[in-house]
Amino acid sequence: TQPRARMSRLESDRFIDYSVLDSNIKRVQERLRRPLTFSEKIVYGHLDNIEDADIRRGESYLKLRPTRIACQDATAQMALIQFMSAGLDSVKVPTTIHCDHLIVAKDGNTADLATATADNEEVYRFLESVCKRYGAGFWKPGAGIIHQIVLENYAYPGGLMIGTDSHTPNAGGLGMAAIGVGGADAVDVMSGLAWELKTPKVIGIHLTGQLSKWASPKDVILKLAGELTVKGATGSIIEYFGDGVESLSCTGMATITNMGAETGATTSMFPYTNSMGAYLAATGRSDIAKAASAWRHTLEADRGAEYDRLINIDLSTLEPSINGPATPDHAIPLSKFKEEIAQSGWQSKVSAGLIGSCTNSSFEDISRVAHLARQALDAGLQPQAPLYLSPGSEATRATLEKAGVLEVFEKSGATLLANACGPCCGSWNRQDIAKGTDNSIVTSYNRNFTGRLDSNPATKIFLTSPETVIAKTFAGDLDFNPATDAIRTPTGAFRFEPPPSIDLPAAGYEEADAGYVAPPADRAQLHVDISPTSDRIQRLQPFGAWPGHDYDDLVILIKVEGKCTTDHITPAGPWFRYRGHLENISNNTLIGAVNAENKKINAVRNVFTGKYDGVPETARDYKVRGQQWVVIAEHNYGEGSSREHAALQPRFLNGVAIIAKSFARIHESNLKKQGMLPLTFVDADAYDRIEASDKISLRGLTKLGPGRAVEMIVTKSDGNTWSTTLAHSFNDEQIGYFKAGSALNLMALADAG
Ligand code: F3S
Repeated sequence: TQPRARMSRLESDRFIDYSVLDSNIKRVQERLRRPLTFSEKIVYGHLDNIEDADIRRGESYLKLRPTRIACQDATAQMALIQFMSAGLDSVKVPTTIHCDHLIVAKDGNTADLATATADNEEVYRFLESVCKRYGAGFWKPGAGIIHQIVLENYAYPGGLMIGTDSHTPNAGGLGMAAIGVGGADAVDVMSGLAWELKTPKVIGIHLTGQLSKWASPKDVILKLAGELTVKGATGSIIEYFGDGVESLSCTGMATITNMGAETGATTSMFPYTNSMGAYLAATGRSDIAKAASAWRHTLEADRGAEYDRLINIDLSTLEPSINGPATPDHAIPLSKFKEEIAQSGWQSKVSAGLIGSCTNSSFEDISRVAHLARQALDAGLQPQAPLYLSPGSEATRATLEKAGVLEVFEKSGATLLANACGPCCGSWNRQDIAKGTDNSIVTSYNRNFTGRLDSNPATKIFLTSPETVIAKTFAGDLDFNPATDAIRTPTGAFRFEPPPSIDLPAAGYEEADAGYVAPPADRAQLHVDISPTSDRIQRLQPFGAWPGHDYDDLVILIKVEGKCTTDHITPAGPWFRYRGHLENISNNTLIGAVNAENKKINAVRNVFTGKYDGVPETARDYKVRGQQWVVIAEHNYGEGSSREHAALQPRFLNGVAIIAKSFARIHESNLKKQGMLPLTFVDADAYDRIEASDKISLRGLTKLGPGRAVEMIVTKSDGNTWSTTLAHSFNDEQIGYFKAGSALNLMALADAG
């Protein structure tokens, strides 16, 4: 008999059944009569309807059965509010909720955690009580960042997970197909419905050689982000293979898959490796390692599998990279950075160095950084800018402490932040730099959109490996290259030696369930209280159904120019507070988007009053008047995070359609779930002809069908009209969402009927 493994040490009743996965894959192989890539095996191995599934990469939709759901606290609030309104007794798929986004970084871990616990008491209590009532696992604030906790406790090779956070693919470092979704998708799966995904294309990354000297796993994805750009992998899974794969650590692979999100990828995955087995053993899951080893042939690509696109990376010649500012795909090799900074006008002085986040906070990362910091301290140096360290979990923090690694940071005067997202998600009360001051940050995080970390649009954020961050922070100079440059000391010149490879803690990880609350066995009498006067949590009122006719004379709330990420649509930072309260959070709708008409943010002309006002204020006024509206936008609208608020808010404020040159996948799906129409210009030049004062009519909605275009008629203020064609990616079921008013409305209708 094959070894059997528990899915997690924390759930005694759930097991991984590789034999079922394997037989599912065989059935798919027989149907398709071709070899499968590793990611295809895992995704198709979780099909709900293997025999009649339409499997065409990049074209058809799959119905899948994920084996796990993870939600972070900012997105979980609305997801759980939606789940509760469906009236079910328990979550149907193992689910965990993680309190990591709401802890504001300011004074360090202990003080910040105490402040967050007091400030968010109502939200944490709500989340914990929903978890207990509906049978989900709850991770308290301070326990760690969702993706790190998932990697340490729940991820397993060959699993299929969805998570309400865009960096869910972190678990791909442990061979899991882990996909970021909106809360609405999570609600579907929690409720026992199959989950729909457009069959991903597969981008194969052939790794050869071995990393050496200053090159780290982060540099693999920094380079790839430069090559693929922020939308180059949209609709695709990035799958790694080749001899180079075996040389990478499991947590290093997680860094790579984590930041695959920056290319728009559905997820990123590595096949099963010995380093995954070692990591599983170090985190108390030798049984999974044993089972996965026995089913290794299932957990790798078939010989001869074909990719839609192939990219080769030789790890041996890989150069460290620094990406930014303002976009993660502007990759600059470290050796070229001096020239770039000289031409750019960016501040060369480092104003802060930040290490950690879900991307780079492993035992390996922090130990290598500590090794470098120790070298510099021994040479009599100190960091030349404030240094912040965010461990990914309490388990990793405690392990690092026990191994004596954290002492080095104390000696370096670093601020140890809570085991949480902190600055990475804008939860940073930065005191040392006034807003509007031009400055440069160097960080090992994964995102660098303008204003992302400290809500200061003048801050330039550069992404790089933790090793490069620490070197540049000790040098105080952004253009310092540790491979070639020295730092002057009172006695001469100091040069960093590349850190040794350090993978796993010799004695394994410390107890990993600190901060975990298991759901009680007897839940029937438990209740979830929501105060009607709360400004943080609000029960959800269903949206109205589509009235059954075309839309005429819709106004344009804003014609957006340039990039419009979910951070522009619903900024993070202080707004996290209202993630569970749709009415209140709607006051930030599109306040970061640039109005093409006047090049300003949060200043649009109200067509009724003729006056300029904020975007949310104008939308509210339209709502009060019963006026429906659209947004006009450019490419990759909604890139960034999975937050479904970016779709819920426009819907709540009376928006009916977003008409863009193209959409980011998760956001497009979220818009559909909320009953909105994400439509794309067939002729992208039509965008240029539209003026903010135009009125928009959408024709063909009564015949809306998969692949059937919608006609947009534009009426100018002088009464002249012109028309253009809009495409969409709705399938039949999604059209049902639109007609019912939202996916949840459709579920409630099905339940009632
Ligand atoms: Fe948190 Fe930043 Fe990761 S917000 S989940 S640490 S990407």
